[in-house]
Amino acid sequence: TVLVVDFGAQYAQLIARRIREAGVYSEIVSSEVPAAEIVARKPAAIVLSGGPSSVYAPGAPQVDPTLFESGVPAFGICYGFQAMAQSLGGSVAHTGDREYGGTALTVTTGGRLFGELPVEQNVWMSHGDAVSQAPPGFTVTATSTGAPVAAFEDVDRRLAGVQFHPEVRHTAHGQTVLEHFLFDIAGLEPTWTMANVVEEQVERIRAQVGEGRALCALSGGVDSAVAAALVQRAIGDRLTCVYVDHGLMREGETEQIERDFVAVTGVDLRVVDAREQFLGALAGVSDPEEKRKIIGREFIRVFEQAALDVVGDAKEHGDSVDFLVQGTLYPDVVESGGGSGTANIKSHHNVGGLPEDLQFTLVEPLRTLFKDEVREVGVQLGLPEAMVWRQPFPGPGLGIRIVGEVTQDRLDVLRQADAIVRAELTAAKLDREIWQCPVVLLADVRSVGVQGDGRTYGHPIVLRPVSSEDAMTADWTRLPYDVLARISTRITNEVREVNRVTLDITSKPPGTIEWE
Ligand code: XMP
Repeated sequence: TVLVVDFGAQYAQLIARRIREAGVYSEIVSSEVPAAEIVARKPAAIVLSGGPSSVYAPGAPQVDPTLFESGVPAFGICYGFQAMAQSLGGSVAHTGDREYGGTALTVTTGGRLFGELPVEQNVWMSHGDAVSQAPPGFTVTATSTGAPVAAFEDVDRRLAGVQFHPEVRHTAHGQTVLEHFLFDIAGLEPTWTMANVVEEQVERIRAQVGEGRALCALSGGVDSAVAAALVQRAIGDRLTCVYVDHGLMREGETEQIERDFVAVTGVDLRVVDAREQFLGALAGVSDPEEKRKIIGREFIRVFEQAALDVVGDAKEHGDSVDFLVQGTLYPDVVESGGGSGTANIKSHHNVGGLPEDLQFTLVEPLRTLFKDEVREVGVQLGLPEAMVWRQPFPGPGLGIRIVGEVTQDRLDVLRQADAIVRAELTAAKLDREIWQCPVVLLADVRSVGVQGDGRTYGHPIVLRPVSSEDAMTADWTRLPYDVLARISTRITNEVREVNRVTLDITSKPPGTIEWE
């Protein structure tokens, strides 16, 4: 394991991802964890991340030099580079000159870090202070206008660092520099593959669950599907999956789970048809938050009952269900403090409010993985492409994409329009460029149109394609006009009740991604 010491910048997760992309497993650890504890974990290497802009800032985290005396290979990035320089006897100048964004870097000595890479390269910088003198024993290998010492290495001690950010895509050869450190300086081997992850997780799950039984709620999303498929591979039909069909899914999604997912994984699946119940509960309601509450509440009721049934059935056979499978991902674990190796590990409950008398132990086979790795594991497990690459879709489903009351007719209209949009985006190979594309029915709005010889008075559909990294901010995606034109023509021709297609060109903020 390579440990990424997080100095509190947003880059630590990205660094860990890039290290894993290189085929080396890596985890994040808080800079507050004492050096002795980090060394005791016997990391294969340590990477010090970026952080606050100045090592001179009050309260700026320092690096305990014992970290470097331990013989563990170490790589400093940005702030981590400066902290490393300072702690090993180099010097950092409080220049006040900031270098930010794309910057020209000149390689002065190839060394191991830059090896065969071009002498002039573009890198991403973000710093105020700069290392003015490398520590004794280090060779300076690159320089830039604002950073006289922009990279250094001490191959004998297996220590190196760079002022720029190799983990961001704007740094042309960043990934190669990182790999040079991992393979040519630290001497690691790329053995982290998703095939190994599957094997390892299956072993872990077997060890945890033993001869026990487990329950898993499938949502139709990637995470729960991959988690379930892994657990099924480990314990077979001692896993029961429950899928609540609330009638708010998009076209083909329920069938995908009922048919394709089961066919591929052989999972024991119970589908609870709760469509009537949800529609009944939503009747007459058009306030978005109220809809969300109702859908959440009904979901818990239905799932609770299904869980009790599964537990009851097992009991009849003298068995008990003690484990609940959840698709918790590594970013959730890191963000809730679990990444620091300290206590305070909060489980994220995708399935809230289970009854008190149902005490489950959580099985979370994805808690070390990033989303892209989860998708790869899904591919390894043979899950359907459409499932593995499914874009984010809100739990309340189409219920919050009908602006107005949710009725069966309106759901049918929206589902048809949404299916056309998805088919056309897929045909245009745009799926992976778009973060998600809500299709919204303005059910309470009518507009006049003309179709054939007659006047129509129908509803508008809104297309909301967005580009985003994390859904916190987003920009509207500039879809090609011809794709938009095809979508518009098809929807107005094929979907009754819809006579107008509009495009939402609002970024987030101020608009949210969903309309409700
Ligand atoms: P907004 O609309 O807040 O959406 O910009 C941000 C992301 O969250 C999703 N979303 C939801 N997901 N339950 C969910 O599970 C919800 O009630 C919900 N509302 C929004 C949305 O699809 C986007 O990815």
